[in-house]
Amino acid sequence: MANSKILFVTSEAYPLIKTGGLGDVAGSLPVALKAQRNDVRIIMPAYRDAMRKAEKLGFVSFHMEGVPETVRLLEGRLPGTTVKLLLVDSPAHFDRPGGPYCDPDGRDWADNAERFATFCRVVMAVALNKAQLNWQPDVVHCNDWQSGLVPALLAPHPNRPATIFTIHNLAYHGHFDSSKFQTLNLPHYLWGMQGLEFHSGLSFIKGGLVFADMISTVSPTYAEEIRTPHFGHGLDGLLNHRADRLQGILNGIDYKQWNPANDPHLKHHFDSHKLDGKAKNKTELQKQFGLPQQADTPLLGLVGRLVEQKGIDLVLEIIPQLVELGAQLVVLGTGDKGFQAALEAAATKYPQQIAAHIGFSEALAHQIEAGADMFLMPSRFEPCGLNQIYSLCYGTAPIVRHTGGLADTVIDACDENIAQGKASGFQFEHASAIELLQACKRAISIYRQQPKTWKKIITTGMKQDFSWKQSAKHYLKLYQTAQQLSGKQ
Ligand code: ADP
Ligand code: GLC
Repeated sequence: MANSKILFVTSEAYPLIKTGGLGDVAGSLPVALKAQRNDVRIIMPAYRDAMRKAEKLGFVSFHMEGVPETVRLLEGRLPGTTVKLLLVDSPAHFDRPGGPYCDPDGRDWADNAERFATFCRVVMAVALNKAQLNWQPDVVHCNDWQSGLVPALLAPHPNRPATIFTIHNLAYHGHFDSSKFQTLNLPHYLWGMQGLEFHSGLSFIKGGLVFADMISTVSPTYAEEIRTPHFGHGLDGLLNHRADRLQGILNGIDYKQWNPANDPHLKHHFDSHKLDGKAKNKTELQKQFGLPQQADTPLLGLVGRLVEQKGIDLVLEIIPQLVELGAQLVVLGTGDKGFQAALEAAATKYPQQIAAHIGFSEALAHQIEAGADMFLMPSRFEPCGLNQIYSLCYGTAPIVRHTGGLADTVIDACDENIAQGKASGFQFEHASAIELLQACKRAISIYRQQPKTWKKIITTGMKQDFSWKQSAKHYLKLYQTAQQLSGKQ
């Protein structure tokens, strides 16, 4: 399906603003959809940072139906691309310091319900061609709870576009006190178990899960997992009810941003045929983190949000054993204050082997992917995960738990897979420190004792194609299905 008009609704997009993988996806999937001859526009809140970084910004709409007069719409370009960008400029909600969801101290903004309800109302006006743009999308592609009200608000409109809702992380519901339903002035038909009510509160994500024409999530395995109580966060019943509308489409990555052969964040470039640059990046990384510059010491890396989902507690538990094994570990992340403090304490206790940088640094994330030998991702659940894919591309063997997108992208280095030349990393089954440690030991042993096998494992990962091309095609098919189904809920 080419030449569709697609409105891509997101609360973050790289390089304007990013807290995690959604930012990477929103900064690259629309580009891939455009390359396949579609008219794509990204719509996002006009956060202060995004306003500063967007290109060629100008006001395009001052009055939108159903939206307060203080809200305006700006149009520009996603930097470095030709994709059009719409920014929802509501200064009271978005022009402030801090992150897109949290204040500078890491607490959720108290007015998140109001902020994203306003955002969704503007998206609705654009979707119904009531925003003075003279443009109506065929498809509105919503992402995560921040855009959840859009399919719900659009549902009763006869001439609405088709709606798609993509779950990037079912753990985040956008759950608010039921009183918000009144203060946000939401239509009565949306209340109740068939609507936005969840455990007596208001759930934004249900707007997407109940009302979207099609639902997708970011890997085939996670699409299965979220239909079980263990991974369903209380929404597995609803997802089973809508199982015929649910699909898993694996994320791609943007090789313009993540390619070791020309990554601007790296001092030394390399590829699967010429790996010496990787060894030089390792030395740089050890230097940068103040660790002894030893070429033969196995260096493990971890980049990510320091939250329970990512299994940070499991990593903390095995640090003494990693030290005993003579490995080094570098960590980059922000999140839970307890995890941050524990990582810093480990770095203080083992200064020769453990180092942590608490903060967000795009450059350092690339440098760890390039310089480490192995990458830790022991997630309890992982809808897709991009870091393990970046690791595969950068010749850094991922050590991952067998779940979600990790299970779909990493092929375990068991004897059989090694013999068949398929192995690309290391998997373990249960979220336990012992199993994580065993996987690390397996990796370290091959790294030390079987250099040829090690090289084969990492180059197998490097040669895989994780570009968006195929996944974008799957999305276009999904859009087509949604269009056929729209209005026939
Ligand atoms: P999630 O979306 O659950 O956070 P992903 O693996 O899909 O996990 O994507 C995480 C993205 O955010 C990657 O691009 C990763 O490099 C980036 N990232 C996470 N934490 C940091 C950090 N502290 N500094 C720089 N980049 C980070
Ligand atoms: C979420 C998930 C992650 C996924 C990303 C992009 O934040 O936690 O697994 O890769 O979204 O889809």
